[in-house]
Amino acid sequence: MNAFDEDEDRYSGSLDWALWRRIVARARPYRTSIAQLVGAGLVVAAIDATLPALSGRLIDEALRAGWSRTLTWFSLAYFASFVVIGAAVVWFIVLAGRIATGLAHDFRRDGFARMQTLSFSFFDARPVGWLVSRLMGDVGKVAGLMPWFFVDLVWGGSLLLFSVAMMLWLDVGLALWVLSIVPPLVLLSVVFQRKLLASSREVRRTNSRITAAYAEAIAGVRTTRALHRESAALEEFQDETGAMLQHSVRRALQSALYLPLVISIGSVGVGLALWRGGLRVDDGLSLGTLVAFMQYAALFYQPIRELAQRFTELQSAQAAAERIQTLLDTQPQVRDSPAVLAALAQPSAEGEAIDGGKPTIETIRFEDVGFAYVPGEPVLRDVNFTVRAGQTIALVGPTGGGKSTIVSLLARFYEPQQGAIRLDGVDHRERSLHWLQSNLGVVLQSPHLFSGTVEDNIRYGRLEATDAEVRDAARRVGAHAMIEGLAEGYATAVGEGGGKLSTGQRQLISLARAVLADPQIFIMDEATSSLDTETEAQVQAGVEAALQGRIAFVIAHRLSTIRRADLILVIDQGRIVERGTHAELIALRGRYAELQAQSQAATTVDAALREEAG
Ligand SMILES: Nc1ncnc2c1ncn2[C@@H]1O[C@H](COP(=O)(O)OP(=O)(O)OP(=O)(O)O)[C@@H](O)[C@H]1O
Ligand SMILES: [Mg+2]
Repeated sequence: MNAFDEDEDRYSGSLDWALWRRIVARARPYRTSIAQLVGAGLVVAAIDATLPALSGRLIDEALRAGWSRTLTWFSLAYFASFVVIGAAVVWFIVLAGRIATGLAHDFRRDGFARMQTLSFSFFDARPVGWLVSRLMGDVGKVAGLMPWFFVDLVWGGSLLLFSVAMMLWLDVGLALWVLSIVPPLVLLSVVFQRKLLASSREVRRTNSRITAAYAEAIAGVRTTRALHRESAALEEFQDETGAMLQHSVRRALQSALYLPLVISIGSVGVGLALWRGGLRVDDGLSLGTLVAFMQYAALFYQPIRELAQRFTELQSAQAAAERIQTLLDTQPQVRDSPAVLAALAQPSAEGEAIDGGKPTIETIRFEDVGFAYVPGEPVLRDVNFTVRAGQTIALVGPTGGGKSTIVSLLARFYEPQQGAIRLDGVDHRERSLHWLQSNLGVVLQSPHLFSGTVEDNIRYGRLEATDAEVRDAARRVGAHAMIEGLAEGYATAVGEGGGKLSTGQRQLISLARAVLADPQIFIMDEATSSLDTETEAQVQAGVEAALQGRIAFVIAHRLSTIRRADLILVIDQGRIVERGTHAELIALRGRYAELQAQSQAATTVDAALREEAG
């Protein structure tokens, strides 16, 4: 359980009508189904409310005239009513299912689409796995509740109204006696529904803690045994299961108590009707009316119980609805400016990019760039440099210095808080995000592959590429031999996230993917860090060829591309501390020379070990 689950099912004392109005507004595409649901609810309520009166008339008629034709009609009407109610219930279930699945689908689709547009900063604050399972759970809860809320609101509400009207019509005095049970019924139902909700929540919470404890105990079973912690682990587990038992028993007791209690109140109503009505039978109150009132009294608790239950559910689902709505309302922090959006709406001329700007990138300039992921904790300060087309720029420096952050800013995953990044003099925030990102080829240290084959994954770089082009790209980065060596070559499935391949294999495939895309800017962030020195050397030539004519950003510890880079920036604690070519920096005998000496030592040791092993 993590901090994000703390507000699970948060019970809010009051209903946020504005929020629910917006959620209900999303059900608009299903208005025909909802109208049918409401119609069916009204019909069932009307029948439910007339049946007691009908029974009364039946009795009076039978007493007056014995078995007659009228009586046969009454019985038929009685029978028909039950057929209609049965059919309506089936129809309720079908319609409610249709609305719930439709709504859930829409919420998930919109939520997914929204998540795709959100900036990285949004996900920094929230784990993705949590977000996804949250979205699924929340949507299921809210969408499942909506149709039944409509049903019960219409059915329960109108049944109450109709019954009260019928009773008042039949006999005002008796009606007031029977209605005296309504306030205690409402009170009891509201109190119990809240209690039930709270105890179900406890059961669920304990349950998820038990699941987590189970998972942790099994995942860590080796460690537990090695440390002789079995008995402690068992004790902790027993505490949780003990709590679970307690909560479950409490919940069972509460739900066992509720129904008999409301039914008893109903019986009090029946008793009241019998007593006050019975006294008046001699004064001319018909037996049928008496029976009708007794039935109304017994009928009341049902709609009240349902309504109380739905409103409590609505309150408990409010947190879920709020989270869905918040996600749908969240605007990505990094997005196209209004000017860019306007330009995108215009057809672009020949020789123009989609946003009407220059299609090629000749220079990239970082001007006094400053950035912080968390306000007040700057990660980059006063970063200034310029690269031109055809040049390779290498970023080196200690871990956490800010190298990846620089390329994230260039890719506009984040935007700088100070200074600007200019593409041929134009602030990159004045260009289209899509245009910029489609001109980037990015290979990361732990690259992500999508489920599918190796070939599919390379082709993501450029969907219309031919098989020959895919293989050519693989050859150029030295990945071809590795791929051919896989069980099914290019048709090998890579597994979810590329999990069936090693990190080094994933790096080679994503290099091929980036090369195939033929981007203007190539970014390699530790792209070959998981390759052994031998493979890296093979990849080297291909990578260098791939970088020809482009602007390349290379972050690496060992790659000798760095030595041939046109500009090397040494980044430490968010600042550029040294800059120049390899020769210049070595001559400087500063940080770079130091890093170089360390890495050379490491490579020598690596080679020596290899020799020994071979
Ligand atoms: N998403 C993030 N949210 C908050 N802080 C971050 C985030 N990403 C990086 N940082 C912080 O920013 C600083 C710079 O990180 P960055 O990843 O740019 O370093 P780096 O030079 O690429 O390091 P490495 O060589 O280890 O990859 C670090 O202190 C890191 O903790
Ligand atoms: Mg990094």
